[in-house]
Amino acid sequence: MDIKITKSLTSRLPEVDFDNLPFGRTFSDHMFVCDYYDGAWHNPRIEPFHNLSLHPATMALHYGQAIFEGMKASITNDGTPMLFRPERHAHRLNQSAVRLCMPQFPEDLFVDALCKLVNIDQGWIPQAAGSALYVRPTMIATDEFIGVKPSQSYKFFIFTGPVGPYYTKPVSLWAETTYIRAAMGGTGAAKAAGNYAGALYPAQLAQERGFDQLLWLDAKEFKYIQESGTMNVFFVINEKVITPPLSGTILDGVTRDSIIQILRSEGITVEEYPITIDEVVQAYHDGTLQEAFGAGTAAVVSHVSEIGYKDLVMVLPPVSERKIAPHVKAVIDGLRAGTVADKWGWTMPIMAEEMVS
Ligand code: COI
Repeated sequence: MDIKITKSLTSRLPEVDFDNLPFGRTFSDHMFVCDYYDGAWHNPRIEPFHNLSLHPATMALHYGQAIFEGMKASITNDGTPMLFRPERHAHRLNQSAVRLCMPQFPEDLFVDALCKLVNIDQGWIPQAAGSALYVRPTMIATDEFIGVKPSQSYKFFIFTGPVGPYYTKPVSLWAETTYIRAAMGGTGAAKAAGNYAGALYPAQLAQERGFDQLLWLDAKEFKYIQESGTMNVFFVINEKVITPPLSGTILDGVTRDSIIQILRSEGITVEEYPITIDEVVQAYHDGTLQEAFGAGTAAVVSHVSEIGYKDLVMVLPPVSERKIAPHVKAVIDGLRAGTVADKWGWTMPIMAEEMVS
């Protein structure tokens, strides 16, 4: 399908302070939009960034048929805009769509739309280390209807915005033993808006206890570690890198997968198994808990400074003593900057011919 492009007559770019970019508050000049009705996607288009006008009975607002992706575009040191693993995000969006009873979005159109949108707004890609153009593909149910059933119409849109780091310092995590994020058979593996809504109240309680984020445990025994509020989690215990497996309750993180592949390609063992919070506590007492870190598009690789569990606060070794997380972060940042050779074929440079007016 051809994407119709209508360019903004003026740019808001001169208003942006690139030296002060809080995460998620600044939005670029254009957005991609496509509508689903009568069983097909129609009218893919890039337009000036604008608000959506929604009927009060729009189904996404009531019954939560809303999914999204989080991606980043960067600019290489030689000035080429670049996407990171866009096909994998397209695929994951469609897996979320299946779980939420929403239509699949054509994966080639997803990638084409991203390339064109990022190319048009490439001036918005920040260059400072730790910054990027955050890209938010989103799909919502748009039938105007009161009643619980899958919507027949949907809107898919992608908007972008320059961001600085999501976490500006190492994060402290509270291992949650009352509330849950996801149970087996639930929507935990989908990037569904409702998953985040349900996490807000327990996250607020954790913040009142003095922690930045949650470390989710399984819904049955509060024993097996799942993920953190905004990222997948990794532990380094006795030189071994460990992360919870994709069990259906955690998000299949693109950064998580990249880290596993990077480390394994270097001969570093990464074990994916249902690690328990007791194992982490034991390692802490034995002095073998060397690192914990989160991994996500927004968070990239974020060090965990401490983990609270019941009445224990485990203070992790200082960042200066860590090896794995700083290394994988440097590789991912280097891939995005074009300074690390991409032997996996993950980066997608956006060529000038994407620029169609
Ligand atoms: C991302 O990592 O891109 C996400 O979607 C997480 C969100 C909390 C910012």
